Amino acid sequence: MTAPAAHDRYAVMGHPVAHSKSPLIHGWFAQQTGQALSYTAIDVEPGHFTLAVHEFFASGGAGLNITVPYKEAAWQLAEVCSETAEHAGAVNVLYRDERGQLLGDNTDGIGLVRDLVDNNGGLIKGKSLLILGAGGAVRGALAALVRHQPARIVIANRTIAKAEALARLFSDKAEISACPYESLSEPFDLIINGTSAGLQGQMPVLAADVMGADTWCYDMMYSAADTVFQRWAKQHNAARALDGFGMLVEQAAESFNLWRGVRPVTAPVLEKLRLELAKT
Ligand code: ATR
Repeated sequence: MTAPAAHDRYAVMGHPVAHSKSPLIHGWFAQQTGQALSYTAIDVEPGHFTLAVHEFFASGGAGLNITVPYKEAAWQLAEVCSETAEHAGAVNVLYRDERGQLLGDNTDGIGLVRDLVDNNGGLIKGKSLLILGAGGAVRGALAALVRHQPARIVIANRTIAKAEALARLFSDKAEISACPYESLSEPFDLIINGTSAGLQGQMPVLAADVMGADTWCYDMMYSAADTVFQRWAKQHNAARALDGFGMLVEQAAESFNLWRGVRPVTAPVLEKLRLELAKT
């Protein structure tokens, strides 16, 4: 790839997007690595996504992050997708190669794994994983989790057919199965919450038996205070109860690396972001 020009323009597109922390994160990454770029948030009204993407790149934009609800539309729009994005059926990074082709990638899964393993010292290899939820967030993360060779994965979801479909997608690569929440009755090494139930102040009802003596819990969501799932994890004496803040920063770092060929150091950015969130 050719060296990026000074002050390349990047943005995150979504709806709504005003709450996005990505401009702040990428601004700090740019400062830290001495890269001259701008990064803004673009709210795209439903029905206007394709046009907005084409206009952004036609006017010289260098790269986009894509967030809710357009990750699947971005996957359809990308001319070439990474294997990870194909598995996820969703794209959260768009950029162009030197031939002008629109490339799509998905850094959500690697973001989760980097936060869990590199930032927190967690283990996936050889472990039993329980994943709560079978929506876009889980689908986006599964390929990266499978790559780290867990002993087995159980996907539990309210709508069982969605969990079964996801399990089928990865059945040739992992020991993976699906079940309803009510059937869970044994302990797991790692429980990952990928449901959006927390947005309504809820979480799936789980038997206390899913928590072992050394079970780690990871919520793909985050909030200023503990999430509903983190509270549940702490009440049930989880060894660790982590939120998805680190995943957010790590997926951003992976995007930055794809665009700029430089990987920012994430720890100071994560620390600054937590302080920022505490103020809100
Ligand atoms: P996302 O892209 O954030 O994953 P999604 O594709 O709408 O969003 O998926 C939301 C996930 O959260 C689904 O697994 C959903 O369960 P269903 O597939 O059964 O709908 C789950 N979810 C949302 N609200 C929930 C709740 N109150 N209790 C349990 N699961 C919930």
